[in-house]
Amino acid sequence: MAQQLSQHDKDNMNEHSPSVFLNGHFLAIEDACVSVLDRGFLLGDGVYEVIPVFGGSLFRLDQHLQRLQHSLDGVRIANPFEPQHWANVLEELVARNGGGDLSVYLQVTRGVAAKRDHAFPSACTPTVFLMATPLAPIDDASAERGVSAVTRDDIRWQRCDIKAITLLPNVLLRQEAVDAGAAEAILIRDGEATEGAASNLFVVDQGVLITPPKGPRLLPGITRDLVLELAQANGLPTREEGISIARLRDAEEVWLTSSTREILAVVSIDGEAVGDGRPGPLWARMRGIYQEYKQQLRKHR
Ligand code: PDD
Repeated sequence: MAQQLSQHDKDNMNEHSPSVFLNGHFLAIEDACVSVLDRGFLLGDGVYEVIPVFGGSLFRLDQHLQRLQHSLDGVRIANPFEPQHWANVLEELVARNGGGDLSVYLQVTRGVAAKRDHAFPSACTPTVFLMATPLAPIDDASAERGVSAVTRDDIRWQRCDIKAITLLPNVLLRQEAVDAGAAEAILIRDGEATEGAASNLFVVDQGVLITPPKGPRLLPGITRDLVLELAQANGLPTREEGISIARLRDAEEVWLTSSTREILAVVSIDGEAVGDGRPGPLWARMRGIYQEYKQQLRKHR
């Protein structure tokens, strides 16, 4: 049975509830409702972005909007807004949620159709939903301990470059990691480690920072690109190359990157230590560079 909220609950929530954006309106989250005929709900027919906000500034907005366009093109949904309109809506959402450090979730589905049918309806207006949640600060002590990971077969589709809301394989894979007491599942396809269930993968091999090249097997992560850019700007050698299972097992360091978890050092994989079982020196250096970059962004606000 659906849970009913009393007026008292609603009033209470309204006082503190975050403001979300749905189809042209800013609303309190409990007032934001979507039809059960929305194709996002029935078919997982939509795409999304997760954009971090530091000190009120949207992090790498242009790159996120370009990736959104790539995802929309990939699933044949017309982009409902021009980039400037996206920027305005996002800025307004950030302001309404108090600025600071946030994680913005943005979702576009194909919209509401008259009946459930796999094929596209002849006319459909995309549903646009955005929300902002506080971005939990990365705890230094746990970052410095590093995390463990497990490897799993990549059971996803052939278009992992599209940031689709259809995330059931990622959900199951991440849960398998959690069930094994690990922070992430590293996915293996055709004998190569491609990325995590919700993160990109780097290894340090003979002092060189290596990440798989972009393509349909992985999401083109915004943090991945930034890490490569910052490494190059700071004279660290990098290469975009496949990561065989042997290379993963023998790596000096293994990292996972994402907007929400930043750069995680993996210290064990399937119960075997990575390197000496502690976050490596290159990770510590890159983490410092990344934090510095974020600080600059806050200052230039
Ligand atoms: N996920 N690969 C996958 C499969 C991902 O889901 C993500 C991010 C990444 C890293 O991308 P970025 O650096 O742009 O965050 C790589 C987000 C955070 C999520 O699904 O919540």
